[in-house]
Amino acid sequence: MIENRSLFILLSGRGSNFIAIHEAIRRGGLKASIAGVLSNLPDAPGLLKAREFGYPVHAIPHKGKERRAHELAVEAVIDAAAPRLIVLAGYMRILGPEFIRKYRHRILNIHPALLPSFPGVHAQKQAFDYGVKMTGCTVHFVDEGVDTGPVILQKAVPVYDADTLEDLEARILEQEHRAYVEAIGILLDSEWAITGRRFAGVGIAK
Ligand code: GRF
Repeated sequence: MIENRSLFILLSGRGSNFIAIHEAIRRGGLKASIAGVLSNLPDAPGLLKAREFGYPVHAIPHKGKERRAHELAVEAVIDAAAPRLIVLAGYMRILGPEFIRKYRHRILNIHPALLPSFPGVHAQKQAFDYGVKMTGCTVHFVDEGVDTGPVILQKAVPVYDADTLEDLEARILEQEHRAYVEAIGILLDSEWAITGRRFAGVGIAK
C-alpha cells in the first residue's frame, strides 16, 4: 500500500504559509503532496496563487450558508481528495465540533504566538502590547477550543526594544514558515503519540 503523504490546505488570505509548504515540497525538503486548496473567499490571494501553481482549487463561499451546511460542502471536497492531513493556513472560519471530531488529530493550525499565551486574533499585537521579550509561533492540532489543541512544535522569537509591531510580525512569520514545514515533516515521517495533551515522538532516544 502506498503511504498517504497528501495535504489539503484551507486558507482565507495571502497564503504565505501555504506558499512556504509548496516551496519546501518543490525543493524536495518536504516529501509530501498537496491534494487541493480550498478557500471560503473566492478572491483570496492564496487561492489565486494555488491556481497559478496548478493545484486543484475550490472556492466554497460561506456567505449566506449556515455554518454546518458550509462545512458539509467543505468535507465533501476534502473527502474526495482523501488527504492525510488538513492544514489550516490562515483559514478564518471557526470549525464546528462535527468537523473536528471527524478529522481528529489530522487538522493542523499555526498560531503566531507561544500558546497558551495570546490565543485568538491579533496574537502578535497582543504579545507586543503586553511587552513580552520572547514570543513565537505554535503548530498545534485543532480541537474544539480556540487555539487549545495539543502542541506539535513551537519556535521562539525575541522582541527587541526598537521593534515596531510590523518588525515583530515579519520576524514571527519567517519562523512560522519554518515551523509549519518542520511539523508536517515530523507528522509524516515519525511515529508519534498524544498522551493527554502531550504530543511526543515514540521511540526517540533522550
Ligand atoms: C499567520 O499569521 C498564521 O499564524 C495565522 O494566520 C496568518 C496566515 O498568514 N493563523 P498567511 O496567509 O499564511 O500568510
